[in-house]
Amino acid sequence: MKILGIETSCDETAVAIVDDQKKILSHALNSQIDLHQKYGGVVPEIAARGHAEILDKLILESLKQANLSLKDIDGFAVTAGPGLIGGVIVGLMAAKTLASVYKKPFIAVNHLEAHALTARLTGDVEFPYLLLLVSGGHCQILLAKGVGNYEKIGETMDDALGEAFDKVAQMLGLPYPGGPAIEKIALAGDENRFKFSRPLIDGIAKKEHLFDFSFSGLKTAVRRQIEKLTDQEFSHFTSAQKINQKDKNDLAASFQRTATEILLNRLENVMNSENEIRKIADLNLKKLIIAGGVAANRYIYSHLQNWALKHGLEVVTPPIALCTDNAAMIAWAGVEKLRLGISDDLNFKPRARWDLNTL
Ligand code: KG4
Ligand code: ZN
Repeated sequence: MKILGIETSCDETAVAIVDDQKKILSHALNSQIDLHQKYGGVVPEIAARGHAEILDKLILESLKQANLSLKDIDGFAVTAGPGLIGGVIVGLMAAKTLASVYKKPFIAVNHLEAHALTARLTGDVEFPYLLLLVSGGHCQILLAKGVGNYEKIGETMDDALGEAFDKVAQMLGLPYPGGPAIEKIALAGDENRFKFSRPLIDGIAKKEHLFDFSFSGLKTAVRRQIEKLTDQEFSHFTSAQKINQKDKNDLAASFQRTATEILLNRLENVMNSENEIRKIADLNLKKLIIAGGVAANRYIYSHLQNWALKHGLEVVTPPIALCTDNAAMIAWAGVEKLRLGISDDLNFKPRARWDLNTL
């Protein structure tokens, strides 16, 4: 079974063909980073136009790489949400058209589920597993029990973790996307220099939010520290220029350490909760999968790995290129669904929001 997958929900236009033997037959990707970099984040209208301009070329390139023609494809899978709606519509229309012209199944893929299933494409991972989904738009802890079967344990109440990385990077005058830029300069920084408060953890812990995240306060704490260092009110135009490189490195390292502590604290709470432990024991859970763009961060990965070892869990992350947005994960989600006999109607509507709990 060969599935062609299309991803256009954010700032990557991507097309890939994957088969049911876990072989990635082709993988064409065009990042729009240079279109959005000067704005410090993704501009939805520019993103949608960018996808529309290049998607047909990437489909042809992907077929060429795989040495296949459209009639060899057994199904067309596409991100149908959640994401920036203009971009999602571009991909969805293309996949629906191909499926209807070639009379093949159309598979509407939830972008988060595609991140969640990637570890099964790149390794031998069986359900169930504990899943930490950390991307530019999401930060959630889930139990993955099967295709289309996810139970949310906790989630962010405000910013996603990748978003926090992007915003802090912007404050430090670093390029978009901020995650890789922060990780890089943090290597030269002192991670213990600044103590930032950890929302939902420090102070009075709220019982109803033991497994949830909040990163907006952490971002504000970094901003306040920048104000102290520069002795002026924060300004996106001038503050970054006034901080020396050593201070930037230390801010980045201290931010990254605090963000990692928050992740570990929440996961520890899950493992200490009788209710969750019972579920995890009942499920005989052996693996923690880290998925989404932030899973590319080696510092976070190694800390999570140390933590997981203590709990007898094995940590699995897909290779970096498949952690960030790509179409191989969409095609693979298509394989997973179609081999269970699941496909979708051609009038499936694009969804800006689409919770994994509701699949
Ligand atoms: O999954 P993804 O490619 O797109 C979404 O679906 O959101 O994730 C992109 C996010 C960005 O916020 C980016 O800064 C972050 O992942 N990211 C990282 C790293 N690489 C990408 N964050 C921290 N460290 C990294 N090395
Ligand atoms: Zn993503």
